[in-house]
Amino acid sequence: MFDLVSNNVKQVFSCVIDYNNANHTKYIREVRVKCLQSIADLKHVCKKLGLKFNDYYSKEVMKVDIILEDKILNCQRLYLVKWQDYDSEYNTWEPSDNLIDCEDLIYFYNAMKEPPTELSEEMIFYFIKDLLTRKPHDLLTLTKLCALIFKVDEDHINSLQLSFADLRKKATNVLNIPVVKLNKIRDELLNLMQFSEKRKLVLLSIKEWEIKINKNTSPYTKVENNIDLEGPPSNFNFVDNYISSYIDLTPRPVIYCSCVDCSKNQNYCCSHYWGGDFAYDKQQRIQLLAGYAIYECNEFCKCDKNCLNRVVQHGQKIRVAIFRTSNGCGWGLKTLELIQKSQFVLEYIGEVISSSHAERRGEVYDHLGRTYLFDLDFEKDCLYTVDSMLYGNASRFINHSCNPNLETYSVWSSQQHPNLPRIAFFAKKKIMPGEELTFDYKMVDSRGKNGIPIPENERILCKCNSKNCKTYLF
Ligand SMILES: C[S@@+](CC[C@H](N)C(=O)[O-])C[C@H]1O[C@@H](n2cnc3c(N)ncnc32)[C@H](O)[C@@H]1O
Ligand SMILES: [Zn+2]
Ligand SMILES: [Zn+2]
Ligand SMILES: [Zn+2]
Repeated sequence: MFDLVSNNVKQVFSCVIDYNNANHTKYIREVRVKCLQSIADLKHVCKKLGLKFNDYYSKEVMKVDIILEDKILNCQRLYLVKWQDYDSEYNTWEPSDNLIDCEDLIYFYNAMKEPPTELSEEMIFYFIKDLLTRKPHDLLTLTKLCALIFKVDEDHINSLQLSFADLRKKATNVLNIPVVKLNKIRDELLNLMQFSEKRKLVLLSIKEWEIKINKNTSPYTKVENNIDLEGPPSNFNFVDNYISSYIDLTPRPVIYCSCVDCSKNQNYCCSHYWGGDFAYDKQQRIQLLAGYAIYECNEFCKCDKNCLNRVVQHGQKIRVAIFRTSNGCGWGLKTLELIQKSQFVLEYIGEVISSSHAERRGEVYDHLGRTYLFDLDFEKDCLYTVDSMLYGNASRFINHSCNPNLETYSVWSSQQHPNLPRIAFFAKKKIMPGEELTFDYKMVDSRGKNGIPIPENERILCKCNSKNCKTYLF
């Protein structure tokens, strides 16, 4: 065991930590963290040092978030507890004596396991109180509750576009309804309570995933599901650059410029040596037509990072959210801020694989009815494909539209292999905050591989809803 003490008197952490080394020998060590750092920071320091953090200090103030399961062990009932503000990896089995001020919660947990024939006031009160106060907010269950008590459908409530505060106000009305009356909709209410319990777990896993994917990326990407019970995609890893296990992606620039100021020397800047046009206007918005290549400056150019001809290489600046779509397309991506026409939004990132390898993966993905493959086919012969199924960034969630708001461009800067461009999305038009981001997958072709027509029942219907929809995705 060892004591963990802050090196600043303003905030003293005095945590006792169990520390077993590889030989299971107990050690005492002191770890210092800066003033005002949180328990999470403390845990992080311990993790880095390979120490097991046993947080006796804060256990006194730890709050139960959810009871997940129960079991009897040695004649004693134990509850599997998810603690508030702690990841699920810190869940523990506890007897009820350890769960201070949790009588309501335990009562509700047991009542949900074996629902009574009549709903009690306590049950309804606990459900409403929990729904109105818990975080993350559950807009979906609140909407369903309002639809139930006001006897309207969910679409009607959604069309009112109420804020969380307004929905909350409406939902509190349920407390004014006599229990006898509520028991007339007992089954619907019980179903909703059960749905709400499942939503808690979904929302918590989504929050944990949101925190995880933002550890090494910026700007912060939000994740929202106000639609259903789908949790985060499994086995998906956020990366902020192309990765490959067998293709050499090391950049070896051979073309670079020696402009003193690239903005004033556009005709003789990098793009000139490639036989192309200067890509950006004064506001760093794309001025090339779709289909034309972007050649940005690189580390061998004389200019510095503020050069006008460096945009995609500085990475994504627009804040976006991965969200559950309501049109059956699964996850989608939306912008959280206004995007001007021709502004750079983000890159398509993933695992670079050979195109023959991609064909084989494609067959598997076709069976799943999903595709995450982006061919790097600027040059006629397509040697490589970017696969974002397992590794990628937020662009992996961008859906197709036959009337999209994003345009794709191939970009070369440091990596100058003709078959290894970066893929960048620029706004085709002004995009308002909250709007879904889409691009044209350009996959519609009733002829499959080798020109053999794809059977009608294997084609994927497009759900983009645009006037010029081509009906099929592929
Ligand atoms: C790159 S992923 C986009 C993210 C995906 N929606 C998800 O939940 O992971 C492409 C897949 O999304 C679905 N999709 C995208 N756009 C669609 C559309 N317009 N209509 C129907 N399905 C679409 C298809 O399953 C497609 O194979
Ligand atoms: Zn240059
Ligand atoms: Zn430059
Ligand atoms: Zn369409």
